Amino acid sequence: MVVSIASDHAGYDLRMTVKKHLEEMGLEVIDGGAVSSTESFSYVEAGKKVATDVMTGKADRGVAICGTGIGISMVCNKFKGIRCALCHDEYTARMSRQHNNANIIAMGGRVVGSSVALAMIDTYFAEEFAGGRHAVRVGDISSLEEVNFK
Ligand code: RB5
Repeated sequence: MVVSIASDHAGYDLRMTVKKHLEEMGLEVIDGGAVSSTESFSYVEAGKKVATDVMTGKADRGVAICGTGIGISMVCNKFKGIRCALCHDEYTARMSRQHNNANIIAMGGRVVGSSVALAMIDTYFAEEFAGGRHAVRVGDISSLEEVNFK
């Protein structure tokens, strides 16, 4: 599996920790975004990078990190076919896969510590989409794109 990860400056430190963990899991990682935690880098650019990689099939999944996770998740969800879930704990990470088939997980580098973040990553990549009634709802989300995304 190929995973695209990017962050702004506020997510840089957590991104380095998560990137190392993903590589230790044997995943191929495409790394983008801020080059340090001190040089300002827009979460909009970082989100565009992850979402484009997933939307085009260059990556199978994405990890998007900014200070809160809010801005970068908003950006990612502006891309067709992207279901980016802002998660704060293992429960939301699990549900983002089981119920929402999220193809990008977002988190806040100023919100979660590295232990929680890595537990979220383990859960997010281990869980499968449950399908069934959830597939209908995810399909309904896709239908909205046909109306609202030109
Ligand atoms: C950067 O200061 C901060 O605004 C950004 O990382 C993010 O939290 C925005 O949603």
